[in-house]
Amino acid sequence: MAKRVKAGRKQKTTGKAPKRIGIVGFGFMGRMHYGYWKKQRGVKIVALCDSNLTQFAEGVEGGNLQGADNSTDYGDALLYDDFDCMLNEARLDAISLTLPTPLHLPLTVKALNAGVSVLCEKPMSLDAKSCKMMLNAAARAPKGTELMVAHCLRFWPCYTELKKYIDSGRYGRVIAASFNRYSAMPGWGKGENWFTDESKSGGVALDLHIHDTDMVNYLFGMPRSVTSQATYNDDGVMTFIKTAYDVGGAAVTSEGCWAMTQSYGFRAGYMLTFENAVVIMDTDSTDVMKVYPARGKPFTPRLKKGDGYEYEIAWFADKIRGRDVKAVTDATQSYDSVRIVDAEKRSAKSGRKVTLK
Ligand SMILES: NC(=O)c1ccc[n+]([C@@H]2O[C@H](COP(=O)([O-])OP(=O)(O)OC[C@H]3O[C@@H](n4cnc5c(N)ncnc54)[C@H](O)[C@@H]3O)[C@@H](O)[C@H]2O)c1
Repeated sequence: MAKRVKAGRKQKTTGKAPKRIGIVGFGFMGRMHYGYWKKQRGVKIVALCDSNLTQFAEGVEGGNLQGADNSTDYGDALLYDDFDCMLNEARLDAISLTLPTPLHLPLTVKALNAGVSVLCEKPMSLDAKSCKMMLNAAARAPKGTELMVAHCLRFWPCYTELKKYIDSGRYGRVIAASFNRYSAMPGWGKGENWFTDESKSGGVALDLHIHDTDMVNYLFGMPRSVTSQATYNDDGVMTFIKTAYDVGGAAVTSEGCWAMTQSYGFRAGYMLTFENAVVIMDTDSTDVMKVYPARGKPFTPRLKKGDGYEYEIAWFADKIRGRDVKAVTDATQSYDSVRIVDAEKRSAKSGRKVTLK
């Protein structure tokens, strides 16, 4: 079923025909992507899809809502409740795929087969095997069809600043690094809470903690092995995981938790001890990021304005418009991050170190 709504605000476009963008899954992240796609040049949002049409009638609540666009004026975009229908009719160049995780594999493959580029929300898929199927579909897709997994931290200013310190060696070697991400159990969706079902979300390890796993992969490369500890609730759902990564040098750990109280909400951070500085990030601190150098006074680095969602969508928009982009991410690395999380889960279950190939 497709429905046209009344014309609204026009998007900025360049001389060339704008790239035609669709968004599938118009919940929390769909509205986030929608807000940032609207800001891009050379693209036009032509179609939105959600199997639950009431999502178009009202905004979303909960989660980190900065950036989520809760307006109900969709310009001249077509609204769909069926993905196949949108794919067949809307002559799309690219989609944001912001659906519950079990749908990442089948709908990404359909879009890629149709020559439509995909910006798929993280985690890429529920396990390494299904990620591999997505990579294979991307490899078979017509030339110029892109697959990107939205690992937003790779674009988030307080993480891109840290990456600069590590790559430049400005403060010497990293001696130790710890990353953390704590949240109450997510539950902002209007229907069933699919996050609490580990078979659908992958639990805290795959849904939340993978942000930091992927960051470890980005900053230090593929670990040789992982050793994890986890806690499970009465339903057997993992609610806490802590992992030590063997990256051959620095002592690197990360922990993720879904068992925080609702009044605590969400908090994430890191602490890196370099030879010549300590660097700390805390989303709850007014400074967010602070550097304590071996010489001189502590200071707060000047970070780029905006968030990682905005920069990742700008990066993908440039990519599908054929512009040169910095090598920040590729789908193979996202597949590797799911492989690492798979290993972390196995290590937590077995109580043993798991080696990665
Ligand atoms: N990058 C981040 O920081 C971040 C944050 C939250 C969630 N996520 C990820 O984003 C994805 C979506 O999460 P969310 O929080 O937006 O979920 P959500 O439940 O808020 O939204 C999902 C939407 O998909 C719709 N939907 C379900 N089945 C559909 C189908 N077959 N066709 C069309 N629409 C369908 C639902 O009606 C719902 O509106 C997940 O993979 C999640 O892990 C990423």
